[in-house]
Amino acid sequence: MARFPFGIPNGWFLVAFADELAPGRVIALRRLGRELVVFRGESGGVHVLDAHCPHLGAHLGVGGRVVGDTLACPFHGWRFAGDGACAGIPYAKRIPRGARATSHPVVERHGMIFVWHHAAGLPPDFEIPALPEWGDAEWMDTWLRWDWTVRTHPQEMGENGIDWPHFATIHRIPAPSDRRWAFRERSYFWQVGGTKPVDALASGQDEILMFGENWGLGYSWLKQRGHYETVVVTGMTPVDAETTCVRMAVIAKIGRSPSPSLRAEFERYMKEHAAFAEADFPIWENKVYRERPILCDGDGPIADYRRWAAQFYTPNASTNARSTSRPDLT
Ligand code: FES
Ligand SMILES: [Fe+2]
Repeated sequence: MARFPFGIPNGWFLVAFADELAPGRVIALRRLGRELVVFRGESGGVHVLDAHCPHLGAHLGVGGRVVGDTLACPFHGWRFAGDGACAGIPYAKRIPRGARATSHPVVERHGMIFVWHHAAGLPPDFEIPALPEWGDAEWMDTWLRWDWTVRTHPQEMGENGIDWPHFATIHRIPAPSDRRWAFRERSYFWQVGGTKPVDALASGQDEILMFGENWGLGYSWLKQRGHYETVVVTGMTPVDAETTCVRMAVIAKIGRSPSPSLRAEFERYMKEHAAFAEADFPIWENKVYRERPILCDGDGPIADYRRWAAQFYTPNASTNARSTSRPDLT
């Protein structure tokens, strides 16, 4: 029986960091309940295709190679462009109708590669906003990162951010006394410890300790002002409907290329943040989802969060909807 009632949500999901995918490189990934292949063409564009070749089903990410801006299948050499169209067959006079791999929309933002997933195949209906700190000379220019595979669902992870009382029990910090939040169209914003109005985000007053925004269920950023000023980004990408690939990454305002000693000190500092994140995992991996929880007056806005999260699912859609390709021998 499925552990969660959700299926795989619609939205943008982190599949790789840009520096993991040099031109000509191919990465095979199981994500979003599908086998995917991510490649960067020689002119720099990143593309994501379903991994199995529409011809006879070879895995394009196992032995496939980039030729120009196409991906060549290892089995018979059919080549596919980033939009999935077959760009050439080495031994055929004519490309058959329907010779097409399933492609997925991709964006590259602040050193990360995101793929769009929609259960009914609809195009993106929001964007991942670029982070102004990325590319700023006062900030590091590479992401310090952590990866985990966690037996949970991104919806459960997102609920954690507005679950105030668990900060004391799991993270051993007092439940924040000043906390604000706003559920917006495709994002939710939250802030703890500050005195500034929720809508005046990111303009730099010291009393704000921590604020962040989740875009859909797959991606969040969090800015902290403490000993270091940092931006922490988390990608929560389902492997399948019950397992999530969590990639957390951080940059700090310590210059583009900090000295090795400053960088080492910052890495030590960030270890605590990683431990903070890991503290939730045993709860998430073993809890059940209570559709009708019994809540009390000190709980966070759980019902509001769930109403907001519901928009990212397509009712009655198979979460693994695949385009059906029929053999076309004509
Ligand atoms: S299976 Fe891919 S070219 Fe034949
Ligand atoms: Fe937590």
